[in-house]
Amino acid sequence: MSTVTQSAKREHRVTTRSLQRRKGKAEAFSMLTAYDHVFSRIFDEAGIDVLLVGDSVGNTVQGEDSTLPVTLDEIVYHSRMVSRGARRALVVGDMPFGSYQVSPEEGVRNAIRLVKDGGVAAVKLEGGRNVKETIERIVAAEIPVMAHVGLTPQAIHRMGGYRVQGRGETGREQVIADALAVEAAGAFAVVLEGVPADLAKEITEMLAIPTIGIGAGVDCDGQVLVLHDLLGLTDWTPSFAKQYANLGALASQAARAYADDVAQRKFPGDEHSFS
Ligand code: KIV
Repeated sequence: MSTVTQSAKREHRVTTRSLQRRKGKAEAFSMLTAYDHVFSRIFDEAGIDVLLVGDSVGNTVQGEDSTLPVTLDEIVYHSRMVSRGARRALVVGDMPFGSYQVSPEEGVRNAIRLVKDGGVAAVKLEGGRNVKETIERIVAAEIPVMAHVGLTPQAIHRMGGYRVQGRGETGREQVIADALAVEAAGAFAVVLEGVPADLAKEITEMLAIPTIGIGAGVDCDGQVLVLHDLLGLTDWTPSFAKQYANLGALASQAARAYADDVAQRKFPGDEHSFS
């Protein structure tokens, strides 16, 4: 296939460049986490712009109480499934704890692995001024980086829990300095998590790159939610999230109906049996 035909086919693919064009627009863009092919396809067809293979897979799928145990191999495994399901959405792979903290070189090596083996088009990593060099080096290796500042779950032990960041004058200055640092380092977008809405607005106006909020008010250029919060698949919904469906209740209902049918020998019926 010629290069021209290939690019025409991908005309509607969301890219880091097309997201940049949506900076400051009245209509915000949407990002959701996805961890497998099924939800990747459903969300992609629903028009979600960005699919994040988040290290939240640790909490949501693996049943861990933090994201810290998640490994690069696991993110690669989930990224492959999500990448196969997405035709239009930009797929971003989260760099798990330990995959970029030791040195920028190791960060570059692991980001390359996520692109090569996971099929993602960009990587996300947490931190601000402390990861500036790592972002620069990954971007220099031609891999787009989505940054993540404010409440950064991989820093749970430093933060002393999942606490809103950027409160008080010093707190605000720190989040602003982090956001400016990741932009200067070459990040194409930045997630603002768990920060006061007015601070997120100020940062969104200050930066030339798109901001993506979670627990950061309505003024960011985009919003992100975790799949399990959106669909009611968790025991509780965080106050900053909105549950748009209760698939947990539906799944439980279906499982109970099936168990009852099995117990009463109503399933399988003749139509489900071979003669
Ligand atoms: O891992 C994740 O799901 C995330 C989002 C909450 C932004 O980092």
